[in-house]
Amino acid sequence: MNISKRVQALTTSPIRRLTPYATAAKAKGKKIYHLNIGQPDIETPAQFMDSIRKFDDKVVAYGNSQGELPLIHAIKKYYKEWNMDFEDSDIYVTNGGSEALALAVMTLCDPGDELLVFEPYYANYNSFARTYNVNINAVPTSAEEGYHLPSKEVIEKHITPKTKAILLTNPGNPTGVVYTMDEMKMIVEIVLKYDLALIADEVYREFVYDGEYHSFGYFKELDNNLIIVDSVSKRYSACGARIGCLVSKNKQFTTEILKCCQARLCCPMLEQVGAAALYTTPTSYLQEVNQEYKKRRDTIAAGLAKIPGLMSSNPKGAFYVMVKLPVDDAEKFAIWMLEEFDVNGETVMFAPGNGFYDTPGCGVDEARLAYVLNCEDLEKAMEILAAGLAAYPGKK
Ligand SMILES: Cc1ncc(COP(=O)(O)O)c(C=O)c1O
Repeated sequence: MNISKRVQALTTSPIRRLTPYATAAKAKGKKIYHLNIGQPDIETPAQFMDSIRKFDDKVVAYGNSQGELPLIHAIKKYYKEWNMDFEDSDIYVTNGGSEALALAVMTLCDPGDELLVFEPYYANYNSFARTYNVNINAVPTSAEEGYHLPSKEVIEKHITPKTKAILLTNPGNPTGVVYTMDEMKMIVEIVLKYDLALIADEVYREFVYDGEYHSFGYFKELDNNLIIVDSVSKRYSACGARIGCLVSKNKQFTTEILKCCQARLCCPMLEQVGAAALYTTPTSYLQEVNQEYKKRRDTIAAGLAKIPGLMSSNPKGAFYVMVKLPVDDAEKFAIWMLEEFDVNGETVMFAPGNGFYDTPGCGVDEARLAYVLNCEDLEKAMEILAAGLAAYPGKK
């Protein structure tokens, strides 16, 4: 049996690949503080299950390929509240933001084309690109510059005749960066100058802690080039619902997307019912969640600031922080924390940083921490991380 070279070339997710070590540690009775995965612990609003329980169709039938109308209308209303006007035909329900990303890459790029991204970037972008033989062209950003964008000249040097789209996350995963208005205007200029597509992954739109958030959907001049990727996973703490969407005013793009959606028939019916109800959650819910994450951000930042030799980004959004650790290799250290180390039977798991880079050798001493635990647990996790770093034999 043949296994495609394309799929063999995929890398394992840095967020999940240490799971066997965690499973073994748990089997030995260790408690693990999971900072490796962006799985919020906030309760999913009751509207989700309440509406699913009321579902009384006699058959769980196939739904519309584009998505169920009540959900499309709920999403449209949600954007309206964010001052963005979309028509029903601009919105395509997907199996999470993940499928939205995969469909966007598949629809915009041919084999051998390039996607321009800013590294470090959400590691699964690699898999979405490689599955379609699309190459990542990564523009470096640095911890020292707070992972903000380099100048227009630097970005333009990465654009080749093969570049078909810029793919970025705002607010950023894994960096927590929130782009300034000037950075956004620069991206808009570049996109229009080279007539590229802009895939704006805005799944963390509500998770901004200092100042205002602006969507790329606010730039009217981008209407023909913009594809927004969105999801209920983080917004409503409904990661397992697997409901996201692709939004674009470019009719040529959406005509082609509909064909892709038809090929996979439809998204799960019950989850679409639940997701439509989630969008009726009062905005006070989102504000409370935002305040809770802001507290968590401040708690983890305070804990990290106390650790000697550790350098941390200053996250403004999403729920991640990138750190440079005073160790030879963050992945080895992560495994050591799971296999060899504990404080009173407890340890910490995080995602090694190298998986968020395309450039070989980058991120070896870095890690991504997801602050998705309550403040008390985060404080304990930071104490354990500090103790682990102090005891680790592979210090720099
Ligand atoms: C930046 C970013 N985009 C997209 C996704 C995919 O989310 P989902 O498929 O659960 O909507 C994630 C998940 O962590 C993410 O961090």
